[in-house]
Amino acid sequence: MSNPRTKWTTDARYFEYSKVANPIGHQIPKVPTADFNHSLHEQGESRVIPLDLSRKLQCPSPATSPNLCANFIRIQPGERITTSPNATSQLYFVIRGKGRTEFNGEAIPWTPHDLFTLPVGSAIHIAGSDTALYWVHDEPLLTYLGVRADAPRFKPTLYKHEDEDRELKKIQSDPCAGSRSRVSVLLANKNFKQTETITHVLWAMYGVLPKGATQLPHRHQSIALDLIIDCKPGCYSLMGEKLDSEGNIIRPLRADWKTASVFVTPPGWWHAHYNESGADAHLLPIQDAGLQTHMRTLDIHFFHADHKSYISLRH
Ligand SMILES: [Fe+2]
Repeated sequence: MSNPRTKWTTDARYFEYSKVANPIGHQIPKVPTADFNHSLHEQGESRVIPLDLSRKLQCPSPATSPNLCANFIRIQPGERITTSPNATSQLYFVIRGKGRTEFNGEAIPWTPHDLFTLPVGSAIHIAGSDTALYWVHDEPLLTYLGVRADAPRFKPTLYKHEDEDRELKKIQSDPCAGSRSRVSVLLANKNFKQTETITHVLWAMYGVLPKGATQLPHRHQSIALDLIIDCKPGCYSLMGEKLDSEGNIIRPLRADWKTASVFVTPPGWWHAHYNESGADAHLLPIQDAGLQTHMRTLDIHFFHADHKSYISLRH
């Protein structure tokens, strides 16, 4: 008769520590860089267009980072799209178009550059004119955990474009704005007092890259899924894994900004922004920094030009 304990051991594995102490870059792929062009949402039928890196990430379903899935939603005038992810956090930004979103029997009207968040649940997006939405949710995280979202952590919340612009102009007109690492509004929700983020998982920033500006390198462990809201040619980001002693990113990759397009900055990579276009440009990075901050793993650092060194940001 077999040992009654043995049947519980079939999936157990044992490794010598040094062989698998850091599987990242080996059996678990690193997060790739990527960009997704505005042409994806400018033609064809009404549909959801995942910005899908799941094959490179080895995730079982559409994902743009291990935790998040970013998408464009294209909706033709008078048509509708239903979204129903298994997600705790959904963020929608109106790239173009006017319409409304129906959620739990109520309607949220929206116009260009409005942003709204939804908790778990189904939503119907109805377009009154040619519409493109940028939609980010955390279904890949829940898929990894093997759980279903069932408890809303916040109620639907709208960030009107005129409120975003008012707050950004206040910050931009501050005499100290030129000395800051970024000229931006962090969008938050009163339910998340610890992380001060837009949901408990997602982080969102509405920012301007003023004409002629260089925004020096910084880095963080959250992954950035940057939507460029508007720009003229001549805006770009440099990104890479290491800095030299002068604060230059070593062997950088260059992401040229394009209006209504998205690029991915991997975790821990230094990134700096440059505007040589002659006109202000606007961006909306979305990150999993709510979750990273909760885990105390955000590890954000800024290069400090005066001291030729980098500093970590401590609250
Ligand atoms: Fe950043």
